[in-house]
Amino acid sequence: HPSQSPATHMGKGGETHQSAGGDIPVLTTQQGVAVSDDQNTLRVGPGGPALLEDFHFREKIFHFDHERIPERVVHARGYGAHGYFELTDSLSDVCKADLFGKVGERTPTFVRFSTVAGNKGSADVVRDVRGFAVKFYTSQGNWDLVGNNIPVFFIQDAIKFPDFVHAAKQEPDRDFPQAQTAHDNFWDFVSLSPEATHMVCWAMSDRAIPRSFRFMEGFGVHTFRLINAEGRSTYVKFHWKPKLGLQSVVWNEALKINGADPDFHRRDLWQAITGGNFPEWELGVQLFDDEFADSFPFDILDPTKLIPEELVPVRRVGRLVLDRMPDNFFAETEQVAFCTQNIIPGIDFTNDPLLQGRNFSYLDTQTKRLGGPNFTHIPINAPKCPFHNFQQDGHMAMHNPKGRANYEPNSWSQPTGGPRESADGYRSFAQEQSGPKLRQRSESFADHYSQARQFFISQTPVEQTHMRDAFVFELSKVETPAIRARMVSHLLHVDQKLAEGVAMGLGLSPLPRPAVAARPVVTGLQP
Ligand code: HEM
Repeated sequence: HPSQSPATHMGKGGETHQSAGGDIPVLTTQQGVAVSDDQNTLRVGPGGPALLEDFHFREKIFHFDHERIPERVVHARGYGAHGYFELTDSLSDVCKADLFGKVGERTPTFVRFSTVAGNKGSADVVRDVRGFAVKFYTSQGNWDLVGNNIPVFFIQDAIKFPDFVHAAKQEPDRDFPQAQTAHDNFWDFVSLSPEATHMVCWAMSDRAIPRSFRFMEGFGVHTFRLINAEGRSTYVKFHWKPKLGLQSVVWNEALKINGADPDFHRRDLWQAITGGNFPEWELGVQLFDDEFADSFPFDILDPTKLIPEELVPVRRVGRLVLDRMPDNFFAETEQVAFCTQNIIPGIDFTNDPLLQGRNFSYLDTQTKRLGGPNFTHIPINAPKCPFHNFQQDGHMAMHNPKGRANYEPNSWSQPTGGPRESADGYRSFAQEQSGPKLRQRSESFADHYSQARQFFISQTPVEQTHMRDAFVFELSKVETPAIRARMVSHLLHVDQKLAEGVAMGLGLSPLPRPAVAARPVVTGLQP
């Protein structure tokens, strides 16, 4: 609009000045003081020293100097979008949460997709797991489903997470490589952790090089609980099924795309949403009870296992539509804080030891990353339902308790007395617990290979070839022969031909002995 173009005139040195006027707002300091000259520091004479008195210069540079915050310790590179979740099939028989009650009900959401190992400035189309984190701003508070595009995880217990992540990210002495290239530390760790074999197979499959975020599945990974109005618990696994179907690139394409456009995935999402092609996923649930859990040959609390869809079909209950890009990347996508402990009445945890560690880790890390305990005051993290509590103060407090009372119980009448507990408030499922206190992995977590084998044989021959080639390519970057051999010793339990093909590709002869398996490996879904 012509009236919005700034009035432009030349300064003495030939520089261009643009002035406020008409619809053009006045540039001010953070204190609201109008700025007359944003091009020249205050100095003594044209060639003289700059003056400390120049409050505008100091404020501008001080603020610039503090622009960076720590990147996420994992999942540093990500891209987010706003949307909504719409219920298409009521779950009210098994879940009392409002968002799963009334068909047609819409819940606002914010979703962030991410890679795991690469830093914030790394490339998009790397071989890596993708994060698929969804924040539901429900009428009963925020629920975060912090999932991945792969249904299982590398480790069974959160205490191993720092070691796993250290091994997967840059090696500390040389600060390289990142996700797309294998290296000794990563393969050393996973080959010493047989529980990782299943997830490593997924990571070497085409799933780990998705064509775009829009063509990815998502999984809540852990078994959670749904709780109904009578307090009955049903186990649940959450799934996201992309409307566009599942698509990947091949490794050769991935390398070229990363070279030509490291922002390929974020550009794809931006272009789709701003062009009106709103990506969509169906939310699916696998529901099962204690009887199924007891009959299942693997432990439903073991996050390295999935529940085969042949045994418990995925029931599709809603759709997620992403229809709006953030107004500001930093304010929203960078500052959003997903946390597995954010749950609402009707949803509960299980004793999955990985999930329970995550419940501690996210809040802890975000308190540091976002500068203190008040990051829920940032609009992207605030609930969209009414909320009241007596928490106060701390860095960047935007709202404190109003009036006199900042504690309860108190004897002040309303409104001074403030909020009170409610009979409808969150109650944890009253699971019976007993047993000795000890550090010991459950025996039921000991089969590390059967589901890896099932995954491999579920792949088409072309996909199996891609997996073999990926193992060969990645392991060929490993300099230590013993690590290569150790990895092949696990693959011998997954599939003999796969192991032989990888060994041949690596020039490894003779074949190593199979790794010691704590449990016999089975092929069928139900041994
Ligand atoms: C970040 C998923 C296991 C610690 C993330 C994010 C996702 C995710 C999607 C990125 C969230 C975002 O976009 O902002 C998962 C899944 C896991 C898993 C599916 C296994 C099933 C763990 C474990 C720990 C952990 C075991 C620690 C014990 C973290 C931390 C962050 C993170 C510290 C950074 C959070 C932040 O700075 O906001 N994870 N994760 N994760 N995860 Fe996990």
